[in-house]
Amino acid sequence: MVENSFSLQNKIILLTGASGKLALSFIRKFLEYKAIVIGLDIKDEPPVIDSLDANLKKNFHYYKSDITNKSDLKEIFNDLSLKKILPNTLINNAAAGQVTFLNGSLVEFTQFPHEVWDANLRVNLTGALNICQVFGKYLEDTKNGSVINMSSTYGIAGCDQRIYGDSGLNSSIAYAATKSALIGMTKYLAAYWGDLNIRVNAVAPAGVFNDHKDPFYSNYVNKIMLGKMCEADDITNALIYLSSDASKYITGTVLSVDGGYTAW
Ligand SMILES: NC(=O)c1ccc[n+]([C@@H]2O[C@H](COP(=O)([O-])OP(=O)(O)OC[C@H]3O[C@@H](n4cnc5c(N)ncnc54)[C@H](O)[C@@H]3O)[C@@H](O)[C@H]2O)c1
Repeated sequence: MVENSFSLQNKIILLTGASGKLALSFIRKFLEYKAIVIGLDIKDEPPVIDSLDANLKKNFHYYKSDITNKSDLKEIFNDLSLKKILPNTLINNAAAGQVTFLNGSLVEFTQFPHEVWDANLRVNLTGALNICQVFGKYLEDTKNGSVINMSSTYGIAGCDQRIYGDSGLNSSIAYAATKSALIGMTKYLAAYWGDLNIRVNAVAPAGVFNDHKDPFYSNYVNKIMLGKMCEADDITNALIYLSSDASKYITGTVLSVDGGYTAW
């Protein structure tokens, strides 16, 4: 039955960046779809967790941790192993370096600081690599798993600088480079792990509406076939599909959730 194949019963989902803006929507729906969710973030636990029903909340576990620190992750692995809730689904969602506005002003490409570049690569790429290495061994041992890497339209298409004006949202070179590299990592690992029944896919969303104002909003929406910005729920649904058995024959793909942005 279609309904059953989209269920997340028996899925234990590790989600990085669990205190970020979009994660709140992901966590709520994963729990409603009967997953156990393990959230990791360098920030404190998202306060919204307190608003969840007790029967959902009991399936949420939170670790304040830095994904660039592999020994932190090994400790979490050991703790989850003791609790017998090692994840079979890994979502590399944490990110840094979305914008080129640093300390309140626009930084030109030629002045983009190396320390920011290095820091963004450490979170967006090395962090994802660490998660796959530390938790991937369990997927290998059980010959089962789904890994989802959060890319972006800017990992696929060039960032049109003309649309930003003084919005402060100008996307950065480090963001494009890492989101594109995550697609390479997705395909590498899909090929590497295919015969162990571990699926690896990427999701590439367009910008999620967050009270954006004109002219940026109209400029952005003009680039989208469906004529509106993304909603967090659109991404949640793609993640549910790729986490669930409904996508059991899907690996090595990039699922664009972008209203057609990259398909013109
Ligand atoms: N929001 C959008 O419009 C949009 C569009 C396309 C793609 N995405 C992607 O979706 C994902 C989620 O986006 P978001 O808007 O929720 O981002 P966000 O910035 O709100 O959340 C990212 C989270 O990652 C965490 N993080 C950063 N460094 C970390 C580290 N070293 N260890 C652990 N956690 C760390 C941050 O604390 C933050 O809570 C990101 O990968 C982003 O690139 C977002």
